[in-house]
This record gives sequence, structure tokens and C-alpha cells, in this order.
Amino acid sequence: MFLEDVEKCANEFRNLVEGRKVKLISHHDADGITSAAIIAKALLRCGVDFEMKIVKQLTSNLIQNLKVEDEVLMFTDLGSGQLDRLADIARKTDVVVLDHHEIVNFKETGNILHLNPRMYGMYFSASILTYVFSKFLDPKNVDCVDLAIVGAVGDEQDEKWEMKGFAREILEEGVRIGKISLQKGLRLYGRYSRPLHKALEYSFDPFIPSISGSESNAVQLLAELGIPIRTEEGWRRLKDLTEEEERKLATAIIVERLKLSLENAHDIFGEIYTIIERPERIRDAREFATLLNACGRLGFPDIGIRLCLGDYSVMTTAENLMEEYRRRIGEYLEMIREENCLRKGENAYFLMMKDRVPDTMIGTLTSIVTSSNILEEKKPIFGMVYTEENKIKISARVPPNIDLNLRDILCKVVEKIGGEAGGHERAAGALIDKSMEEDFVYIIDSKIGELLAKERKG
Ligand code: C5P
Repeated sequence: MFLEDVEKCANEFRNLVEGRKVKLISHHDADGITSAAIIAKALLRCGVDFEMKIVKQLTSNLIQNLKVEDEVLMFTDLGSGQLDRLADIARKTDVVVLDHHEIVNFKETGNILHLNPRMYGMYFSASILTYVFSKFLDPKNVDCVDLAIVGAVGDEQDEKWEMKGFAREILEEGVRIGKISLQKGLRLYGRYSRPLHKALEYSFDPFIPSISGSESNAVQLLAELGIPIRTEEGWRRLKDLTEEEERKLATAIIVERLKLSLENAHDIFGEIYTIIERPERIRDAREFATLLNACGRLGFPDIGIRLCLGDYSVMTTAENLMEEYRRRIGEYLEMIREENCLRKGENAYFLMMKDRVPDTMIGTLTSIVTSSNILEEKKPIFGMVYTEENKIKISARVPPNIDLNLRDILCKVVEKIGGEAGGHERAAGALIDKSMEEDFVYIIDSKIGELLAKERKG
């Protein structure tokens, strides 16, 4: 059913774009950038003229100001949450939405060509959807399979470093055609990009007792194991280790975890997706996804798109952006630890960042805080920042042990205090008026309290 509908949609699309231009609008994260690049490549192949805009959010303002004449309007990695607002433009021109976010006001899709895996009880990234769609346009687009996987990884579909469901089938397709190599290895981020001792120091999941957070202990552990950390060419990275060395390191990590009787001490391995034929810096799908996120969120999505399309002349610029991204995240985490930005509600945490963090970075920051051990208690976290338009952008995340639908909660709250909301159950966002800051904190804290109490009773 799903594949048949995608094929039907691709055929309709082919007819629609005949002799016309496409205006493509996509999201600024790794999933949005890879989705846009996949469509761009497909359009180039079909000889269709297009322009592209990468945005941080599909706001009402943006929709209202869209100028279209005869172009086909196409949205990737956004749109399903704004179908009612897109319906107006769909009266003037053809609109195509390829998205995977929660669907709002489905009834009002009108003549919008809309595909979303949720309509089929499936869940996967927009990059996987656009990839399947593009393959129906032209089977040659199978060569974008690596981008499909990078987007899926950027969207954290490989929970605990294992790709599941439909995305796994696409991964296996990538392996079959020789574009991707799939191996099992140590679940340490930065196989290609970080000096090994740094990769160990920065590893919090898996947590390595006495090593996580300590560069000197990481260096000492490697010395004790007889694993050199430098060669004449510079710092060694995980990818430079021999199999024997990686095995030795894995055993040592397990031993450290057993010393603290950590649950699942052996749970330190995961899948590594290597993209054959990409330059070393973006050969690891996870590192590629992080780099794209950095480009997009710092306001340079074009650099990410160019990397996806194989223009590596921008690699140094992308690496500099990555450095800047890391530096800024470090700075923001420091603010949360040391300054007065953290509001501890009874039922939720609020990162009240005011104008100290750009609205493009609050989502990533809130995700990092949620998966780290910076805050003592496991509670939902709401990152809040002021935007240039005098609003507050909110990023909401919930830790794994709590069951809450954040999108529903935010949608209900904005009904009360005004604004826009959307996203997923466990990662959602909203935009509210600046004057509503305190009301928001109060309402959310009590609402979550009520919901959790109900759940405890039920
Ligand atoms: O920006 P952030 O990463 O926090 O967004 C989390 C999710 O919520 C994303 O899927 C985003 O598209 C969605 N969102 C939304 N409407 C907003 C803000 C975020 O649909 N106003």
C-alpha cells in the first residue's frame, strides 16, 4: 500500500512538473538537508528547473509570504503539521508535501499531494521517504541511498546504533549495491574525526566509569593497554586501530563498567555505517549527519547541500562550522551549569535561555541536556529562547523512562495561550508570544503534573 501510493504520487508529480519550475522548501537539520539534496539530484536528473530554500520552521508568516506563480511548491521534512495553512496556496498552485512529522488537520489536505509514513502506521525519516519517492521518478536515484541513511541517522532512527524497520531495508539496499558498508564496532562517536582519547573522554553513552569526562584517565587507559595514541601523522583515531587493538579496548571498557556493576556492561557495541567513496571526514554516516546539522543550524545549509551533492571544495568551511558548533554547545552547557538559566519546576525542567542562545540551536541543546547527566532528575525538559520576532521558541524533550506526548501537550497549551506547536511525541516544539513566558512555565508544569498523576493512578 505504502509503496504503491509513493509510486502513484511520483507519477503524478512527473506530470505536474512537466515544463514547470519547482520551488523546494526543506528543514534545516540533517534530515531536511539530505531530503532536499535527494530531491535536488532527482530534479536535475529529470531536467526540471528548481530553486531551493532551507528554513528553520514552516511558520504561518513564511507561508503567508510565499510568492508563487506557476511553480510547483514542494515541501520536504516539513508541511504535515501545517496542512490547513498550506490548503490556501494549494488553491493557487500545486503543492507536494513529503514529510514524517505528526499530521495535523488531515481532512483539509484538499488537492495537496501528501505523503507521510505515519499514514501507514510506519515511522521513518523524511530522507528515507524522499529517497523512495525519487527512485520511482528514476531508478538511477538509487545512488542517493547514502543520503537517505545519513538523514535517518540524523533523525536518531538508529536508536542504540541499530537501524530498524523500513529504514533497515534501505540500509541493506545500500549495502547490496556497494554504497555503504555495515560493521559492528565500539559505539564511540568520532571514529573518523576525533583523536581516540577524546572519543573516550566524550563518551557518556556508553558511560565508561572514571574515563568519561576525563582526558587524562583516557590517555592513561590507552597507555596501560599498550595502544599508542599518536603516530608521526598525528593523533590516532578509532578507525586507525587494528582489530586486535579495538578488541583489547572493548574488553577494557567492559571491565571498567563491570567494576561499577553497571547494568548491561557489555552494551558498548553498535552498527557503524561507512559510506564508501565519500571523503574520510564524512565517511561515517553519524559524523556526516552531525556536520550537516552544524551547517544548517549555524545558518549555512547551502554548505551542507553542496557536501551532499559531492562538492567537497567546501569541506574546510564545513569543518570550521563544526568547530564553532561544538564550541558554542560547550559554552551553552556551561551557562546551564553555572548561571541562573535553569528553572526547576515540580514536574519539568525549564532552560530559560532568554536571548543567550539562538533559536536554531535550542533544539540541539535541549536534546543534549536530556541525554546527558547534567540534571539530577529525569523530567521532561523545555528549552526556551527569544527569537528576533519577539517570540519564544520552545524545544521540548522527554527522557526515555517517562511516557508523555509532548506534541499533544504543547498543542493544547498554545490553544490556551496562543502560538504554534508541532513535532513528535518525544521531541516537539512551539512558538509563543514573549509575554507568555511565565504563563507557559506555570501551565506546563501543572499540566505535566496532572498527566503523570493520572498515569500513576491508571
Ligand atoms: O526545534 P526542535 O528540534 O525543538 O523541534 C522539535 C520538533 O518539533 C521538530 O520535529 C520540529 O519540526 C517540530 N516543531 C514544530 N513547530 C514548532 C517548533 C518545532 O512542529 N513551532
